[in-house]
Amino acid sequence: MDRLKGKIAMVVGAGSIGPGWGNGKATAVTFAREGAAVFCVDRNAAAAEETAGIITGEGGKAAAFTADVSRAADVEAMVAACLKTYGRIDVLDNNVGIAEMGSVVEVSEAEWDRVFAVNLKSAYLAMKHVIPVMQKQGGGSIINISSIASIRHLGISYVTYATTKAAMNQMTRTSAVQFARDHVRVNAILPGLMKTPMVAHSAGLAASYSAGDVEAMWRARDAQVPMGHMGDAWDVANAALFLASDESKYVTGIELVVDGGVTLKVS
Ligand SMILES: NC(=O)c1ccc[n+]([C@@H]2O[C@H](COP(=O)([O-])OP(=O)(O)OC[C@H]3O[C@@H](n4cnc5c(N)ncnc54)[C@H](O)[C@@H]3O)[C@@H](O)[C@H]2O)c1
Repeated sequence: MDRLKGKIAMVVGAGSIGPGWGNGKATAVTFAREGAAVFCVDRNAAAAEETAGIITGEGGKAAAFTADVSRAADVEAMVAACLKTYGRIDVLDNNVGIAEMGSVVEVSEAEWDRVFAVNLKSAYLAMKHVIPVMQKQGGGSIINISSIASIRHLGISYVTYATTKAAMNQMTRTSAVQFARDHVRVNAILPGLMKTPMVAHSAGLAASYSAGDVEAMWRARDAQVPMGHMGDAWDVANAALFLASDESKYVTGIELVVDGGVTLKVS
């Protein structure tokens, strides 16, 4: 308890795309259980409010905010609203991400631009507006939710997903160096095969694994992992908790792989 006591944490993509626990929702709740006040942002107002409601229902502190963070005006409004509500931002968790299927040959130009806006531009915009706040405060911790798809071909055809996440890794590293003197730490988490609503609901993902059968997809994903099973949203949340807390005060620019060993394998 109290590993984030007194901190203000902004979780972007704090809702879940379907019933159950997504990475952002579990992260927001974990941060609050450790003492942070959590500013829960999502494009889906009901999803942001659900997460904030879980936190306040447990006696924690949270506020919900609706924004499409692929849009600069929404991100500026989000940062202003958090400062108005809580006065500072100690932790920024950039969790928004979508997986759309297709190779470079198949993806349309419009789809390419859309996934880059949602997965990558969103994190750039949030960092652009939050880092100056953290510099003035004397520091902060930024956590970018990437994926092992940024460093491996997972056998799934989703070039926009893999490419945006790879770019996010390098944005993390270069920003970590550039803002280290300001005590602004920037790290990435690379989740592996997690059992979350996002995976169940991403169009074409179950089709890639198992002709659309979600239960068969879960079995196939379990079988790929050296530990014998997928991870869950709490595994990502606990990694984020470490990076958000002062326990990681000398850690910046890393890619924290949370994958049960799957990237260690050849196949
Ligand atoms: N589940 C996995 O196996 C896995 C593996 C690797 C990485 N990841 C990463 O984890 C992150 C998502 O995890 P999750 O389980 O919380 O997903 P999720 O889809 O359940 O939740 C993400 C939330 O982001 C919101 N969102 C989407 N676009 C938005 C936008 N433009 N503006 C504001 N909000 C927006 C959605 O409404 C949703 O509530 C993604 O970055 C994803 O790439 C997941």
